[in-house]
Amino acid sequence: MQSDAPLLFFDSGIGGLSILGPTRELLPNAPIVYAADNAAFPYGTRSEAEIAARVPALLGRLVERVHPRLVTIACNTASTIALDHVRAALDVPVVGTVPAIKPAAEHSQSRVIGVLGTQATVRQPYVDDLAAKFASDCTVLRHGSAALVELAEQRLASASVDKADVIAAAQPLFDQPEGDRLDTVVLACTHFPLLADWLREAHPGVAFIDGGQGIARRIAYLTNGQSWPDARPQGRALFTGAVPQALAPAMEGFGITDLSTL
Ligand code: DGL
Repeated sequence: MQSDAPLLFFDSGIGGLSILGPTRELLPNAPIVYAADNAAFPYGTRSEAEIAARVPALLGRLVERVHPRLVTIACNTASTIALDHVRAALDVPVVGTVPAIKPAAEHSQSRVIGVLGTQATVRQPYVDDLAAKFASDCTVLRHGSAALVELAEQRLASASVDKADVIAAAQPLFDQPEGDRLDTVVLACTHFPLLADWLREAHPGVAFIDGGQGIARRIAYLTNGQSWPDARPQGRALFTGAVPQALAPAMEGFGITDLSTL
């Protein structure tokens, strides 16, 4: 494995930064390519057929272009729909991001847990299977929100985002029967950890859990023993649509300084 072979992170937008952040802490010198399918953003309101056709084809193109050592689908929507198709289509290791229902069930005392994701993610059989396997003695409430995805994008683009709008967009999860007993909520969209400080402030008795740290450890495990550059390289981002210049300062905070169109 060449030391300059990058880790490729993929999302519809900036959500994958919540996976990239903890990964950079574990692997500080890893070369990073961050790919965002912003031409098709948001994924959460698209159909299963669209995602299943689009994501493997796009990742195939990206792998040919950047020759990554490992691909991380840093998107719950794409992973719960297309992970198997992507693995079948690529001959590099692929790490997916799926809702952290297992750690949430392990943590919950009240045995009522929430899954806050996109509309597409919360209806996936993949989520039914995780709930049946790891949380069969829990009530699992679900809510899909496109508004939260949009608010996370706006916050990173430094547009003024109203904290009250974020809290209101998550509220339908808590307004369901038994919602007052929720003590653990899975942030099942990679955009949502970017709003977690406000959600925690609004719901102090609730633990908000995401998969970022676990996925970072998985990436470190799968690349254990491989060589890396001696110094931290500048990361780059590829967009399927126009380069969103407003995101440049936030991306720089994650070590990504070169933004271009795929
Ligand atoms: N960040 C994505 C996820 O984890 C998708 C957001 C969207 O494009 O709707 O599900």
